[in-house]
Amino acid sequence: MGFKDKRIVVTGVSSGVGQATAKALQEVGAYVIGLDVKPAHDHCDQFVLCDLSSPISIDAALAVIEEPIHGLANIAGVPGSLPADLVFKVNFLGMRHLTSQLLPRLTDNASVVNIASTAATGWRKHKEISQCILAETDWEACLAQFNDLAMSGPATYDFTKELVVLYTMLVSSRERHRGVRVNSLSPGAVHTPLLQIFYETMGDELLQSLKTQAGGRDAYPEEIANAILLMLDPKGYWINGTDLIVDGGAEVLMNLEEFAKPPLPLAH
Ligand code: NAI
Repeated sequence: MGFKDKRIVVTGVSSGVGQATAKALQEVGAYVIGLDVKPAHDHCDQFVLCDLSSPISIDAALAVIEEPIHGLANIAGVPGSLPADLVFKVNFLGMRHLTSQLLPRLTDNASVVNIASTAATGWRKHKEISQCILAETDWEACLAQFNDLAMSGPATYDFTKELVVLYTMLVSSRERHRGVRVNSLSPGAVHTPLLQIFYETMGDELLQSLKTQAGGRDAYPEEIANAILLMLDPKGYWINGTDLIVDGGAEVLMNLEEFAKPPLPLAH
């Protein structure tokens, strides 16, 4: 892997997938610039306190991040059990603001990975409304448009992740002439503090059947981190503008329910 001395910005480094990604990056020699609303004590060479629900806070973080920057992993996220406007700000608006400001500052051939979710697989169904939201680039005006939709609960979470997928595809050509790539990665269920909230809000039945289809367990954060590193690695030069589903095979059940046979449980 080509990460020696590469400077990678990672959001959500205080917990779960973000923390595991920061650790995995350090293990292969990268310099990790971690951003989070909660302090992170481990696995960051530089930590910047940053609230992704606030453009002022993001701008302050951007001011202390120094170049060169060889990669960006947007991992921070919040569940649909929180107020809808906060979910929209953290999962979409903040991710977009940080990314659009950092894209022109990235080195040639840099890679960006935005974490979406298998909850976003229905993005094509809501493409028209998503495109209207994406077309509004002003923070407050975009938030007002979203508030007009009067969404709440898990639907908000799913919609924000659909926006992540579509935004990623649309922005993937912006710096392509310099070899910069932008992809999203959609995990299935992952053992993190967030998953406990998903079990409470999304219901046990769906998550249990996805677990069965994935081989009898949910992913470990390290397994998602490994996939993020694959997407960040310069060797993936031709992977651009796509969404990689990383769910142990559970997605098959969502699309081919009548044909899908549950696999034998994983041996380890
Ligand atoms: P987590 O709750 O363990 O970590 C989320 C991180 O985001 C925390 O460090 C938290 O402090 C940070 N964060 C929250 N609000 C923030 C804000 N306003 N500004 C800056 N940082 C903020 O969750 P997990 O599971 O590691 O989630 C990582 C990503 O993976 C999220 O985007 C989530 O939506 C996505 N995901 C998680 C799945 C799961 O089953 N755990 C499934 C599919 C997607």
